[in-house]
Amino acid sequence: MNRRYRKTIIAGNWKMNKTATETKKFAEELKVILPKAKWCDVVVCVPFVNIPAALRAFKDMRVAIGAENVFYEKSGAYTGEVSADMLKDLGVKYVIIGHSERRQYFGETDVIVNKKVQAVLEAGMHPIICVGESLEQREMGVTMDLITLQIKSALAGIPAEKVRKCVIAYEPIWAIGTGKTATAEQANEVCNGIRTTIRHLYGARVARSVTIQYGGSMNPKNAEELLAQPDVDGGLIGGAALKPDQFVEIINAANQE
Ligand code: 13P
Repeated sequence: MNRRYRKTIIAGNWKMNKTATETKKFAEELKVILPKAKWCDVVVCVPFVNIPAALRAFKDMRVAIGAENVFYEKSGAYTGEVSADMLKDLGVKYVIIGHSERRQYFGETDVIVNKKVQAVLEAGMHPIICVGESLEQREMGVTMDLITLQIKSALAGIPAEKVRKCVIAYEPIWAIGTGKTATAEQANEVCNGIRTTIRHLYGARVARSVTIQYGGSMNPKNAEELLAQPDVDGGLIGGAALKPDQFVEIINAANQE
């Protein structure tokens, strides 16, 4: 973390979990244990259908609501899709883009990721852009090459003032939902590499202002060490974000100093 130059953001990614009723229950439980003073921003990203319930339930808690996906066209004949303007109009502040599960199961490419990032920025929201390598890629020694390509593609055509609004999440695929966490050093090394890529593209001021999260089996036990790294500015949390007590423990770990 480096709060002097950028925000620390703790974000939950609920994935395909919880009904609207369970969303309300989670918020009620969270409200009781959430610290009043927060040195980090808190975001909860929920399935599309739960967004209105989440906005109602988390109101007055200084918790921003995020979506887990979006379609890049503005409107039209795209049955089943949801546009950035629709999300913005509801009150959504963040949108996860290019999560490895979307890349893997729904064929999301770097080109699609770039279009979605543009759409989210144009609508005035913050994209949380996910990048990360598979175990095979790590073992082949191509992690940083691959992630540099993912970052350059995601940000293609985006001007510096909009890059400042982007959040990047480094999520090694081998650490997602596996209980295997990247070591704090591994996480910081890649987050630092991402910042270097942004510095080369946009200069030092932009690079130091961008929030870069780590995601992949982050939990109350390992959060403090990961968040203590200079280039790890928060977390994108799956499993542990589904339980209010664990989520709060991670927020508390980001709230130190
Ligand atoms: P887990 O925290 O369950 O490993 O999930 C991480 C993730 O994919 C967040 O986007």
